[in-house]
Amino acid sequence: CGIVGVIGKENTVDILLNGLKKLEYRGYDSAGVYVNDQDGHDYLVKTKGRIAALEEKIGPEVKGTMGIGHTRWATHGVPSDSNAHPHVSADGRFFLVHNGVINNFAQLRDQYLSDVDLVSQTDTEVVVQLIAHFAATENLSGKEAFRKTLTLLDGSYAFLLVDRTQADKLYVAKNKSPLLIGVGDGFNVVCSDAMAMLAETKDFIELHDGEMVTVTKNDIAIETVAGEAVTRASYHVDMDASDTEKGPFPFYMLKEINEQPAVLRRLVQDYLDESGKPVIEADLLAALDQADRLYILAAGTSYNAGLAAKSVFENLAHIPVEVGLASEFGYNTPLLSKKPFFLFLSQSGETADSRQVLVKVNQWGYPSLTMTNAQGSTLSREATYTMLLNAGPEIAVASTKAYTAQIALQTILAKALGEKRGVQAAIDFDARTQLGLVANGMQTIIDEKDFINQLAQNYLATTRNAFYIGRGYDYAVSLEAALKLKEISYVQAEGFAGAELKHGTISLIEDGTPVLAIITDKRVASHTRGNVQEVRARGAHVLTIAMEDVAEKDDNIILDNIDPLISPLLSVVPTQLLAYYTSLNRGYDVDKPRNLAKAVTVE
Ligand code: G6P
Repeated sequence: CGIVGVIGKENTVDILLNGLKKLEYRGYDSAGVYVNDQDGHDYLVKTKGRIAALEEKIGPEVKGTMGIGHTRWATHGVPSDSNAHPHVSADGRFFLVHNGVINNFAQLRDQYLSDVDLVSQTDTEVVVQLIAHFAATENLSGKEAFRKTLTLLDGSYAFLLVDRTQADKLYVAKNKSPLLIGVGDGFNVVCSDAMAMLAETKDFIELHDGEMVTVTKNDIAIETVAGEAVTRASYHVDMDASDTEKGPFPFYMLKEINEQPAVLRRLVQDYLDESGKPVIEADLLAALDQADRLYILAAGTSYNAGLAAKSVFENLAHIPVEVGLASEFGYNTPLLSKKPFFLFLSQSGETADSRQVLVKVNQWGYPSLTMTNAQGSTLSREATYTMLLNAGPEIAVASTKAYTAQIALQTILAKALGEKRGVQAAIDFDARTQLGLVANGMQTIIDEKDFINQLAQNYLATTRNAFYIGRGYDYAVSLEAALKLKEISYVQAEGFAGAELKHGTISLIEDGTPVLAIITDKRVASHTRGNVQEVRARGAHVLTIAMEDVAEKDDNIILDNIDPLISPLLSVVPTQLLAYYTSLNRGYDVDKPRNLAKAVTVE
C-alpha cells in the first residue's frame, strides 16, 4: 500500500495524485483522497481500481490546501469502494489512511464500538471509529483521542489522520510500517516512500516505531506515544524524480531488464578498485570473518538471489551458508551455529517478513548486514551494516535488476571475505573481468529480444503450465525463472532440479507441455541433457538455454561464456524476457500483475 499527505500547498490534489501514481506499484486495487481547503470545504473521493479511476472520479470542484491519499493492497476486506481508504468516522469528523494490519481490531470493535454501524470490513475503519469514540465519550482533543487509540492497538501501522475541526494539522503515527515526513519551505509532506514526493522535496525525516507526529505547514513535532518530545535531523535523498520515469520503454520491466548491464558496471565501479580488489567496510569484513555460518534471509525474488549466491559464498569464502525464507525462519528458527552472521536481502528494505527476523536477530545480539536498493529503509537502518545495490529505483512489481544486482554484490562480498581468509579460489576469481563479461553477455541477450519474443510466442503463448529445469547453479536460477513467469503471465510454472522431475512431477508432462532447460555447468550438462531426453520422449516441447562452452547446435538460446559459478547472472536474463513477452502477448499489465504488490509490509 502507499500513503501520501500534504499540508500548505495550493495544488494539493495534484501532489496527492502524482504521489499516488509513484506509489501505485506498492498496491493498486483501490485508491482514495481526502482534501480540505481550510476554508470550510472538504472532499472525500475513493474508488475500487487504479489511480486513473480515482483521477476520473475527482471533479473540478475538489480543491484543497491540505489532504491525504492512499493506494491499497487489500489485507482485510475485498477491494471495493467502501473498503478503500481514507476511512471516515461515523460523525464525519476524522479521516484516516493506513498501511499495515491491526491484529486486535475485532476485540476493540466488540469492546468499544457495539453501537456504531461500520460500513467496511477493514481494520482501519475500526481505528478511525475508535478515535471518534474517545473524542466524543471522553471529551478528548483529536490528537489525544488518537494517542489513546494508539495505546490500544496491537499490530503494524503507518497512519495519517485528519481531524476536520483542526484542518491546519496532519497527525501521523508509525509502528513497523514505513513512513517519512518530507520537509518543505512553507509546506510539509508525508509519504510511505520518498519516491512519492521527490518532485516536492528531497529532504526527509525518518520516523521510528512508537512515534507520533503533528505536522503543520511550518512545523514538524515528533513525540513518542508516551508523550516524550523527539528531535531528529532530516536526511537528503540523492535521487531525481526523472529516475522514476519510464522513458522510451512501454513498461518499467523492460526498462529495468535493459538497465542490468549498466547496474553491473556501476557495482564494479562502486565496490572494486582499479586493480579489481573489493572495497568493503573493514568492520563488516571482520565481523563476517569471525562467523562460522552465514544465514541469508529474504522473501520472493530476493530469496532466489540468496539461493543463487549460496555456492558463490561457499566456493569463494569457504563459509557454510543456509538460505531461509524469512517468513518461516523467524517462527521456526533452526538450531543456530555458535557464531552466526545474518544477511538480509531486500530490494525495498521494507518487507515485513524479513524485518521480523531482523528484530529477533537484534534481540539475540548477532551481527547483520542488509543488502538493499533503498537507502534509509527500515532493514537498512536496523541492521548492523548496509550495502546498497545502487541499481536505481525498481518500479515493475516483478523484480529483475535487483535480483542480478544482489547476486553480483554478494559475489563481490564473497570474494572479499575469501581473500581475507586466504582462499585461493577467491584470489583467483577475477570479479572485475567476470562481471564485465556478464554485462556484455546480458547486452547480447537484450539485443536479441525480438527473437526471444518469438520463442515466447512459440512456446508459451497459450500454455497453462510450464517447467524450468536445471541442476546446480542452473537449478537455483530455474526457480527464479519460474517465479517470473508465474507472477506476470499467470502461467503455472515450476522450477525443478533436472533429475528430480522424474521422481514424480514428470507425470504432468503431456504432449506440448513446455519444458525450458538451463544448461551452463559442465559438470552436469550431460545429465541435464539426459533429463531433456526423458521429457521429450513424453511429448514435452523443449526449449534450451545453454552456455557456449556446453552448447549444442540445436539449442535455442546461447549464452556467452562466463564463470559458471555466477552463471545465474546471465542465464536469468532470457527467462526475464520470456516472462515479459508472454505477459505482453497475453495482454496483461506487465508492471502491475494482479493481486501483487512491490513491497509487502505486512506479515
Ligand atoms: C514482493 C514483491 C517481490 C519481491 C518480494 C521481496 O512479494 O512482489 O517481487 O521479491 O516482495 O521484496 P524485497 O523488497 O524484500 O526484496
